[in-house]
Amino acid sequence: MIQPAKIYLDYNATTPVRKEVLEKMLPYFTQNFANPHSDHAFGWDASEALERARKQVANLINSKTSEITFTSGATEAANLALLGFAKENRNKGKHIISCKTEHKAILETLNALENDGYEISYVEVNCDGIVDLKHFQSLLRPDTSMAVMMLANNETGVIQDITKISELAHQNGSVLMSDITQAVGKIDVDLKALGIDLAIFSSHKIYGPKGAGSLYSSSRIDLTRYMYGGNQENGIRPGTVNVPAIVGFGSAAELSKKELQETSEELLLLRNNFEEQLQGLENIQINARDQDRLPNTISFSVHNVEGDAFYRRMNRIAISRGSACTSNIIEASHVLTAMGFEKSLALATYRVSLGKTTTQQELNLAFENIQTAINSMRKTSLV
Ligand SMILES: Cc1ncc(COP(=O)(O)O)c(C=O)c1O
Repeated sequence: MIQPAKIYLDYNATTPVRKEVLEKMLPYFTQNFANPHSDHAFGWDASEALERARKQVANLINSKTSEITFTSGATEAANLALLGFAKENRNKGKHIISCKTEHKAILETLNALENDGYEISYVEVNCDGIVDLKHFQSLLRPDTSMAVMMLANNETGVIQDITKISELAHQNGSVLMSDITQAVGKIDVDLKALGIDLAIFSSHKIYGPKGAGSLYSSSRIDLTRYMYGGNQENGIRPGTVNVPAIVGFGSAAELSKKELQETSEELLLLRNNFEEQLQGLENIQINARDQDRLPNTISFSVHNVEGDAFYRRMNRIAISRGSACTSNIIEASHVLTAMGFEKSLALATYRVSLGKTTTQQELNLAFENIQTAINSMRKTSLV
């Protein structure tokens, strides 16, 4: 029996490596395999490639090359930033403000800091996941050393008013850290204009390889190392650097920057068409529809259809429930819960995330599948 086609609509979880990117990486596995910190002609070639990638990545977010530390991904960058900042500023203020809709990479690291004597306050969000700025302002205290707020949410695509949040944090003398992992490559991210002091992001979300990411740390901020070893990567991320992956990250960053406007316009068109189709179905709710959102992300909830059963029927259409990191465990998404969703509705909420190669035909097919599943399951539940 011929299996129906599989359709990948989970680009916020990860993206494929672009062919052009892979081609740039390949020589660094074989011919140019040297350690970039070796002081000989082979090492110098690798070091040149590393610094070229640093320029490409810095350029994507409007930073200086000296402000980029390469890591294995956004999670490691979050750990370096939060734990390194806390260690450096231990005597300046042990209060941090964040939000329950952040990714686990942030929330779990904040939990570790809480166990270490830090006080973490969480700002409220409305039912669309937008940060309550008045509440944020009321939480700021003289001992608030840092605020941690993501630019765009991985589950809903909602974009926060980071410029305003940064203004309020800076007026209070606090540093602003932001998880920009889902925003880069999808919207223009200019860290200087946004007023972000520390940022984390990842190669595998922008058609680069897994195993590379970056911590941006403004030259005004000092971080203390908490990993020990060699002096690589600004002295805070020791260990031999992963040159092929970083070369790929650099190349992906350059392509992302070059194609940003065209890509986001195309994605927005596809996203709006798909949302219109979904809206035509009964009892479907598009979440945060009227908010500023990433052009590729759709979060929708299906009322009166059991979440698990529906999701199982979607097995050839790769959409997601909760974030990918926790999708093996059937528990309501912490993001939706923070937005006030009841557990049953959170479990019946799905994320469709589009990518550069997504086509209208794929989306038509995905829509047909969704429609058929909903109609048949509603019928079954009426019997
Ligand atoms: C918003 C956000 N932050 C952080 C991460 C973690 O990134 P990485 O897989 O590079 O550690 C992810 C990945 O899903 C994400 O979506």
